[in-house]
Amino acid sequence: PPEPLQEHFDATIAHDRRIEPRDWMPDGYRKTLIRQIAQHAHSEIIGMQPEGEWITRAPSLRRKAILFAKVQDEAGHGLYLYSAAETLGADRADLTERLIEGRQKYSSIFNYPTLSFADVGVIGWFVDGAAICNQVPLCRSSYGPYARAMVRICKEESFHQRQGYELLMTMMRGTEAQRAMVQDAVDRWWWPSLMMFGPPDDASPNSARSMAWKIKRHSNDELRQRFVDMTVPQAEKLGVTLPDPELRWNEERGHHDFGTPDWEELTRVIKGDGPCNAQRIQRRRSAHEEGAWVREAATAHAAKQAARAAK
Ligand code: ACO
Repeated sequence: PPEPLQEHFDATIAHDRRIEPRDWMPDGYRKTLIRQIAQHAHSEIIGMQPEGEWITRAPSLRRKAILFAKVQDEAGHGLYLYSAAETLGADRADLTERLIEGRQKYSSIFNYPTLSFADVGVIGWFVDGAAICNQVPLCRSSYGPYARAMVRICKEESFHQRQGYELLMTMMRGTEAQRAMVQDAVDRWWWPSLMMFGPPDDASPNSARSMAWKIKRHSNDELRQRFVDMTVPQAEKLGVTLPDPELRWNEERGHHDFGTPDWEELTRVIKGDGPCNAQRIQRRRSAHEEGAWVREAATAHAAKQAARAAK
């Protein structure tokens, strides 16, 4: 690249200022952002499925309305993120094709089944809690449109997290059977939630570069630790046990020690071999195909409007 452009880019990053769509940026920076933002957008859209399955089975009108709102928020997050990817020159239709063909990833967490209504609460508490830990620092990401999209997303995620915790508090005040449902959901979602933060730092090929570019602000292991430290007191208050015999407070470190997630399981799920991968993609593919007429109608309408305006 011409030297002044590279220098200007480096100085912008060094001074914690934002890179904007029209600024010159290295190819690698653009590619990394498109990869991460697209994966993030896909996660929001695929993430509508596990909870969406419970909308028709919610135990009350109030819970149904809350769940509806939450799943709609996730669609909205996906749309802001696809828009952020478009500012980098990515094409939204192409990104969707890549997702459906398995050429682009989405978060491992959404490949696990939701077996009871307690799962809706635990997803709010763990999965949205993990999302907050991971995403609050992304509000300071070096790429302007991504960082700004994250501000609103994080506000909504914190509402999602609270609704999950409140749902679980209600169930814990219920019957013995309801408390058992909550504990069972906690047991199933704990380890996959820790895996959301990605592989351990020494096995994370992208981290060093993304941190140097200030796209990522903290390493995968730092954020995982933050999540564990935040969640342990919440579990105590709720009255559930986190399924990790190695979990204990380490006075010296000022953090909780915890066991090692099954990294082979994470690799398998990322590669497409998790409990629900095939089902999630199949569902996304049919929603896309069944929506073809809407896209055609919208395109025809836009063309008509443009022709009218040109007259
Ligand atoms: N699920 C699926 N893929 C993952 C996961 C995961 N939990 N963790 C890591 N990976 C992938 C990475 O995308 C990368 O693949 P790629 O190089 O083919 O793109 C590979 O595994 C190696 O991992 P890292 O080098 O650690 O990758 P990266 O630096 O991108 O860090 C992380 C991964 C932490 C997920 C990062 O991309 C990120 O912060 N993304 C934004 C947040 C996000 O996407 N959240 C989605 C779930 S939250 C929600 O939607 C509610």
